Amino acid sequence: MADKQVDVLVVGAGATGLSAAYALQRAGRSVLVLESRDRVGGRLWTDEVDGVDLEIGGQWVSPDQEALLAMLDELGLETFERHREGESVYVGLDGERRTFTGEVLPVAPAVEAEMNRLTERLDELSAQMDPARPWDMAGAAELDHVTFRAWLDAQCEHEEARDNIAMFIAQAMLTKPVHTFSALQAVHMAASAGSFSNLVDSEFILDRRVIGGLQQVPLQLAARLGDVVCTAHDVEKVRWHDGGVTVTSGDLTVSARHLVLAIPPTAVTRVRFEPPLPSIQRETRQHQSFGQVIKVHATYETPFWRDAGLSGTAFSPYLTVHEAYDNTNHDEERGTLVGFVSDVQADAVLALDPDQRRGIILESLQTYFGPGAGTPLTYFESDWTSEELGSGAYGASFDLGGMTRFGPRLREPAGPIQIGSSDVAGLGFQHVDGALRVGAELAQHIIDS
Ligand code: FDA
Repeated sequence: MADKQVDVLVVGAGATGLSAAYALQRAGRSVLVLESRDRVGGRLWTDEVDGVDLEIGGQWVSPDQEALLAMLDELGLETFERHREGESVYVGLDGERRTFTGEVLPVAPAVEAEMNRLTERLDELSAQMDPARPWDMAGAAELDHVTFRAWLDAQCEHEEARDNIAMFIAQAMLTKPVHTFSALQAVHMAASAGSFSNLVDSEFILDRRVIGGLQQVPLQLAARLGDVVCTAHDVEKVRWHDGGVTVTSGDLTVSARHLVLAIPPTAVTRVRFEPPLPSIQRETRQHQSFGQVIKVHATYETPFWRDAGLSGTAFSPYLTVHEAYDNTNHDEERGTLVGFVSDVQADAVLALDPDQRRGIILESLQTYFGPGAGTPLTYFESDWTSEELGSGAYGASFDLGGMTRFGPRLREPAGPIQIGSSDVAGLGFQHVDGALRVGAELAQHIIDS
């Protein structure tokens, strides 16, 4: 391809990059988007597997996600409610399977009281935090210097209460073991979703899905942007000075006044910069890492659990699959369950051969939903851990102490280079909503300049 010159080069065709490019194009800037993969969407990927459309990446939309809801409106995309009628399932510390309705897990009254107390405390803390500036919160350093595990241990004596509260942030959100991130990072996760109560409330946080899949957002943005979106272009090298950048990808060289690097922090370290990025910029990104989660879809002839009065929702911090939901597609007769295997459980099953792994994962689903869950028509594992460009899911978060030490530098530009993704968002952190907010902000910085 011939050399190109544009006002703004955007690297990365995920929700962040495409929304930034779309805003810039509408503001009259010439843009070009380069994407490594042979598809757009990044961590959003809806694909057909054995005749069933599956959400391999992100999928849910919640009522607080105003940037995402506005984008869905603008693109004319419709949503449908997750199936939730019926009883949910919980397997507790004693190994007993219990069914329940509503959001309160069927635990002993003393455990419930402790979970309520911890929820109130986390809600209070998250209400004191501006998710865009978590390091400014009173007591931020103290919370950032202690692991969430140690913080929970200090707050509460009931193991099952601690395990459940930990599950909603560790396994279910950051997808890292609870001893590897700080209490401040945990509070930030809650504040970015409005409150800790919102994270616990699956009716709220996992409310709706997009008809046709959430990848419709990047697909439609790319369609509106037109032929300025080039897939299969990995950006390997960036030469920069205060007046602009020159970027190479294979035999293509692009010169631009501004560069938007809309890629996860871990991917920034794959790119060679000349001169190198300021050392603080590099160090900052070395202290953010992805969690690990395997998203598993199992599709059956019918949603058989509904006949047994079950909603398809299930939780247990003690099983391989710590949470599961009815993920049946809109207007589809076949029933689909989705389950998640996170952090150390993901490490453990990934070390097994595929048949053993499938057996163990389906065993969890059978514990929740009965023997019928053991024989799906289609079984599919989204393994983002093996993806070189992401190295995990759902997002990247700071190690202990990293948020106060490096967080304030995270959004600083380096000369003409703006860097961001959902992993640096305040509201909507590590969600598509956050990606769209970051994309809009990066574009606005350039428009204002
Ligand atoms: P993203 O990673 O999507 O995009 C970055 C792009 O840059 C990628 O396409 C990558 O290939 C490209 N790239 C990297 N390096 C490059 C280089 N050197 N040159 C060119 N291109 C390069 N969110 C949500 O709101 N609801 C949900 O239910 C879920 N669930 C969920 C499940 C799973 C399994 C995953 C993996 C993720 C989610 N998420 C989610 C998270 C959500 O998908 C995620 O936060 C956003 O899609 C991230 O969008 P970004 O554009 O910021 O990064």
